[in-house]
Amino acid sequence: MNSPRLEGVRLNAPAYVNHQRLLDWVARIAALTEADDVYWCDGSQAEYDRLCQRLVDGGTLQRLNPKLRPDSYLALSDPGDVARVEDRTFICSRHKEDAGPTNNWVDPAEMRALLETGDHALFKGCMRGRTMYVVPFSMGPLGSPIAHLGIELSDSPYVAVNMRLMTRMGRAVFDVLGSDGEFVPCVHTVGAPLQPGQRDVAWPCNKTKYIVHYPETHEIWSYGSGYGGNALLGKKCFALRIASKMGREQGWLAEHMLILGVTSPGGKKYHVAAAFPSACGKTNFAMLVPPKAFAGWKVTTIGDDIAWIKPGRDGRLLAINPEAGYFGVAPGTNEKTNPNCMASLQRDVIFTNVARTDDGDVWWEGMTDTPPAHLIDWQGNDWTPEIARRDAVNGKPKPAAHPNARFTVAATNNPALDSEWDNPAGVAIDAFVFGGRRSTTVPLVTEARNWVEGVYMAATMGSETTAAMAGGNGAVRRDPFAMLPFAGYHMGDYFRHWLALGAKLQAAGARLPHIYCVNWFRKGDDGKFVWPGYGENMRVLKWMLDRIEGRAGGVEHVFGISPRYEDLSWDGLPFTREQFGVVMSIDTAAWRQELQSHDELFARLAARLPEQLPKTKASFERKLAA
Ligand code: OXD
Ligand code: MN
Repeated sequence: MNSPRLEGVRLNAPAYVNHQRLLDWVARIAALTEADDVYWCDGSQAEYDRLCQRLVDGGTLQRLNPKLRPDSYLALSDPGDVARVEDRTFICSRHKEDAGPTNNWVDPAEMRALLETGDHALFKGCMRGRTMYVVPFSMGPLGSPIAHLGIELSDSPYVAVNMRLMTRMGRAVFDVLGSDGEFVPCVHTVGAPLQPGQRDVAWPCNKTKYIVHYPETHEIWSYGSGYGGNALLGKKCFALRIASKMGREQGWLAEHMLILGVTSPGGKKYHVAAAFPSACGKTNFAMLVPPKAFAGWKVTTIGDDIAWIKPGRDGRLLAINPEAGYFGVAPGTNEKTNPNCMASLQRDVIFTNVARTDDGDVWWEGMTDTPPAHLIDWQGNDWTPEIARRDAVNGKPKPAAHPNARFTVAATNNPALDSEWDNPAGVAIDAFVFGGRRSTTVPLVTEARNWVEGVYMAATMGSETTAAMAGGNGAVRRDPFAMLPFAGYHMGDYFRHWLALGAKLQAAGARLPHIYCVNWFRKGDDGKFVWPGYGENMRVLKWMLDRIEGRAGGVEHVFGISPRYEDLSWDGLPFTREQFGVVMSIDTAAWRQELQSHDELFARLAARLPEQLPKTKASFERKLAA
């Protein structure tokens, strides 16, 4: 043991850690936060089991019925700590303009004073009475040239066990790190120090929350929340906000994209990366089960949320999923919408904020058509269908599970896991797909004619906010590349980076992935979804692959190329020409308005907007007028 005493804190570093800069940093944070103790996670199953037991003893986790849900747990959070807090998320670049108008910005010196150095700095003494866990993790297969390492220091054992499911976490990270390797330092506290003798609560957190990124120094500091993306810092904070900045510096892409593999009956394999805003069914698409008529086709999951994409030596774009697990939204998941996900959740799961059944299993809205007669809801109260009706919220029965209730599960639980998911070399991307939730205007699928038009489509992507989101009211929110809450720098520079990467690869003779824009959510006059979605999205996916092979027809319109009715396979699906007309229709007046609303986004980003985008818009407008 390597254990100098530091202002009363024993560092407890294992002998296999010989990275002095890391040791100094851990010592500094332990001293700053006045943690009672420091514990280095080794990532073993025994450690996971031990920490889960400690969380059960402390009341944070409830063990589920081992017969129904083996080795699985339920956590119920504080009602004020249930989701990512975008309004408390900061990109603290040296210059405000570098964070851009879509990010909250605070001067880094001011933020450091607030968090670390000021007289009343929030991190001073914030871990009193608690253990500080040192959580070493790799985002991506250990040692992959596309992967990067991080170390999270957290006073939450719930975070430590979730990080073991979500990342390659543990001792092996130090073998890659060596004595001077690079890592992203991530500091996390729930912000709830304990006085001597004070009893802890089941879900410690603080009303004050700060999710802070220093993009120039690649650092993350998170205060006050124990939930999801606020606390599992490998995910949104590192793999998107900090990594997007690293990608810009180093010539690669960190994207809010699922990655899936599609294998044809003839055995040809394709890889598709798809970006959708939160709450658009990314996990369902990543785990798609093709309909019966597509016998012989296989869809496999590489990732469900994030892709890191680096150009290979031959100019192909090679992608890995930096994560090793899924932190997915439970409500709405069922045997019909996502059977592979349901199979993934049979065991070894940490559920957060779902409801508990009387026999010690879990339930959430949409899991079954008929809810159980009695549940304990996500706030620990009795729930029955009668109580739900009595306590209705906005005319809807009070949900038993929080709408943002989650499961955390290792990717290896997924029966449709792609055999290449852990390949350090990554997989070569054949197509990018961008989609939002739009009840009108945007057709089912459009292929961009070229990279610049594809970047335009992605940059101007919009999605209707749903009632399940904070402040969601059905209005269209522009969510460029589904990265609005996740780009770690100016969105205009981000567009420029995409354009420049495409131009560079093209100049080197590379064949770029095709780019598609999709919309599964078009509604008819009756207000109902017209497209059946889920597994039937395979029909659209197949058309995309056929286009790549030069085999599928389509019709060119103002914005690109879309299929005609006869270009898709309808075997086994009674979907009429008329219905197809509804999901494909392009209404000129609606598009004039749509393009006008792109102007609002462009005006916001004007200072850094690449000129190709307004030029592309002008060419669309000319075509629309013709
Ligand atoms: C997520 C999100 O949790 O995008 O993946 O919000
Ligand atoms: Mn996401």
